[in-house]
Amino acid sequence: MMPISARRKTALFALVACLLLAALPARAFHNGGSALCEGCHTMHNQSGGTANPYLLQAAGFSTICLNCHEGTTISSYRVSTAGSALVVGLPPQMMTPGGDFAWLKKSYSWLYGTIQNEHGDRHGHNIISSEFGYQVDNLNSTAPGGTYPANSLHCISCHDPHGLYRVRFDSTVGISGGAIQSSGSYSDNGIAANPSQAGRAVGVYRLLAGTGYKPPPLVSAPVFNYDPPAAMSPTDYNRSETVTQTRVAYGNGVASWCVNCHGSITGHVGTRFTHPVEGTLGSVIATRYNAYLKTGDLSGTGTAAFLSLLPFESYLGNSAADRNALAAMARSNDANLAGPTSQDRVGCLTCHRAHASGWRYALRWNNESSLLTYNGNYPGNNNGAPPEYHMGRSESETRRAYYDRLPERFAVNQNKLCEKCHV
Ligand code: HEC
Ligand code: HEC
Ligand code: HEC
Ligand code: HEC
Ligand code: HEC
Ligand code: HEC
Repeated sequence: MMPISARRKTALFALVACLLLAALPARAFHNGGSALCEGCHTMHNQSGGTANPYLLQAAGFSTICLNCHEGTTISSYRVSTAGSALVVGLPPQMMTPGGDFAWLKKSYSWLYGTIQNEHGDRHGHNIISSEFGYQVDNLNSTAPGGTYPANSLHCISCHDPHGLYRVRFDSTVGISGGAIQSSGSYSDNGIAANPSQAGRAVGVYRLLAGTGYKPPPLVSAPVFNYDPPAAMSPTDYNRSETVTQTRVAYGNGVASWCVNCHGSITGHVGTRFTHPVEGTLGSVIATRYNAYLKTGDLSGTGTAAFLSLLPFESYLGNSAADRNALAAMARSNDANLAGPTSQDRVGCLTCHRAHASGWRYALRWNNESSLLTYNGNYPGNNNGAPPEYHMGRSESETRRAYYDRLPERFAVNQNKLCEKCHV
């Protein structure tokens, strides 16, 4: 429960934010770079008190973002379902590529021999905002494989609130040189696809932070060594995948970007399973990805191969030609479902979502259950499926965790998705 004064401030802020937004075109708050200062700052520190030396509208470095990025119903840039809209047995609302943080508030228990428990904190990145009910991770004190402290994990750990990182005319990424014209995240934006005029630039994918980044308040956080990846999303990205899939086109650098905080998860060293990343798929695995449609069905020809539960990294960077190729792939109408070539790669986002998911370790599918579907349906604790498959979820929660795609997309008894690349 947040204190009344904090609630009033949040409500007041939400009102200010709404008024501000009402005055803005739908896609133009950050606009790929530095947004209106008043969206986040208050010049006379009306809200933050002494705990707020940065003159922010709210004291918390995630609260400031969630004021606009949380909601009760599915809608474009929202990445968190409000606590008031979370019901036991029903799933969170948002279906963005990064995922809905509210899965962190969903803990599950089921009976399998003894009682099995899965804490909500395991579902992804525990961003901290007491006002919005998000707490420090209950298990990891640092990023596994790295030193980034869990008690400093905020939206601004990964996203630069001032949107300084940009893709310049010469295809390089940096914090200066070239004025940002617009967001660089969207495939239907001609400039985003190709900032092809000297002196111009577009924002990097999703305002992500790059080399040298370390916001002043996060004192003990390590400095970033890698720039954001080349990637593009369709404009319509927070949506159900019942009818068509949402295809984000990931290019070079997704995995190295995660390595900014997860240093040692890149290789084959260590005591735990560290899957090879950013090595090429090679022709054997690329051919299999293209042929595999579901368990037992290898009849694919490659044109309908893409599965948004297993996206790969295309071997494309930030040159104008490459960005145009990424733009041609990023669709939400199934216009391009081509599978990988042997040059393409596995990246962290092949298996994980960036924010959170309905499954352990923010995975895109339930890798702890041996079957994803059971007798033609998604396993639920309300439809007679055995507990080792439903793992405490209701059928609708399982379905939502697969972004509402129909169970018919899979085999009647579908195995783990590792199969799409491995026999
Ligand atoms: C999307 C939210 C957001 C917007 C919009 C925003 N800021 Fe900030 N600003 C922050 C946050 C969060 C911090 C504290 C973390 C940091 O310093 O990066 C901050 C810190 C600062 C600081 C102090 C620390 C530093 O980095 O030097 C200054 C100065 C600042 N902002 C100026 C501005 C100006 C000027 C604008 C408008 C052009 C602006 N901000 C727009 C969120 C925002
Ligand atoms: C005043 C409301 C408001 C606040 C505060 C706000 N956002 Fe946003 N955000 C928006 C809107 C509106 C959009 C969609 C339009 C756009 O991208 O400019 C958006 C889009 C985004 C995007 C996608 C941008 C792209 O180009 O791909 C990211 C990432 C994002 N916000 C992160 C943040 C973070 C991190 C914070 C806190 C530091 C924050 N936002 C604070 C309203 C807000
Ligand atoms: C661990 C790093 C990380 C943290 C923490 C993080 N983001 Fe993101 N965010 C990303 C990445 C990476 C993407 C791109 C995801 C993709 O396209 O698959 C993204 C995507 C987004 C988008 C576009 C919609 C989507 O989900 O794909 C928005 C909006 C956004 N983030 C806002 C936020 C806000 C608000 C917070 C804090 C409540 C936050 N992010 C915390 C890394 C992070
Ligand atoms: C700014 C630092 C930072 C970046 C960048 C970052 N992470 Fe993390 N990550 C953390 C921290 C801190 C934790 C531990 C706290 C937690 O689990 O909430 C963590 C935990 C995780 C976990 C374990 C979650 C769990 O429930 O046990 C996974 C999986 C993960 N990160 C994947 C990724 C992927 C994939 C990317 C790139 C898209 C990424 N991370 C980028 C800081 C980061
Ligand atoms: C082929 C799929 C796959 C890829 C690629 C992958 N992971 Fe994972 N990851 C998993 C699975 C499955 C788990 C569950 C735990 C396990 O099996 O060790 C996991 C677990 C994790 C954890 C939690 C470990 C813990 O001990 O809490 C982190 C953090 C993580 N991955 C980060 C990453 C990062 C960063 C990358 C990219 C450099 C990456 N993963 C690439 C499948 C993958
Ligand atoms: C998008 C394709 C893809 C997916 C999905 C995938 N892998 Fe892989 N996997 C690869 C590639 C590429 C290699 C490296 C192949 C090589 O070197 O021959 C690899 C190698 C491996 C290896 C050998 C590791 C080593 O040290 O050589 C194991 C084990 C493995 N994968 C397990 C898994 C598991 C388990 C999953 C599901 C959680 C999974 N993979 C999902 C593409 C994939």
